Amino acid sequence: MRAVRSLPLLRSAATIGAIALLLTACGGGGDTPSAETPSADMPAAEPTTTVAGGLDGQALYGRCAACHQANGAGLAGAFPPLSESEWVTGDPTIPIKVVLHGLQGEITVAGSTYNSVMLPYGGTGDMNDAEVAAVLTYVRSSFGNSAPAVTADEVAAVRAANSGRTTPWTAEELRSLM
Ligand code: HEC
Repeated sequence: MRAVRSLPLLRSAATIGAIALLLTACGGGGDTPSAETPSADMPAAEPTTTVAGGLDGQALYGRCAACHQANGAGLAGAFPPLSESEWVTGDPTIPIKVVLHGLQGEITVAGSTYNSVMLPYGGTGDMNDAEVAAVLTYVRSSFGNSAPAVTADEVAAVRAANSGRTTPWTAEELRSLM
């Protein structure tokens, strides 16, 4: 049994690329009717997600499931589990930081070691505070986890405190919060 598993960055990048393609294919619906469509007052941003009305954390988790899997169990050797992960259920600022700025380098989750990269979701036009709160509330209360909800205010505070940050977190940095 090998506890340490490492994933070459290349394979990880390829996976992310494949997922990006999938997401594009799913979201685009195929046809681009006209490149000349008047832009009116529509900003040149990505279409917003179709989460109707309030924020559905389970629906938002669709953005995570390709890697962490629908049941939160992850994928051995590639993507760590969110189920029974000490990084998910402890101090809420830890998963908030991971989602906002990403994570890179070696990390041990539920006894297995991973060494890869997760890209950030906190960029402009990506997940807002309420969305991060909703998805993390779902993750912290699903897959056998039973940690308290995360609020948009908590996410906003972490975002503000790290507004100058440009690189993903490392487990080493986050460990001090555990
Ligand atoms: C493209 C794949 C991918 C997607 C999509 C993804 N992650 Fe990750 N995630 C990773 C990888 C890889 C790591 C481990 C990074 C490392 O080795 O340092 C990780 C680590 C984590 C961790 C810390 C370790 C753990 O397992 O508890 C959390 C928390 C987390 N991700 C939450 C999320 C959430 C929430 C989403 C959706 C908003 C998400 N991730 C989307 C790949 C992904």
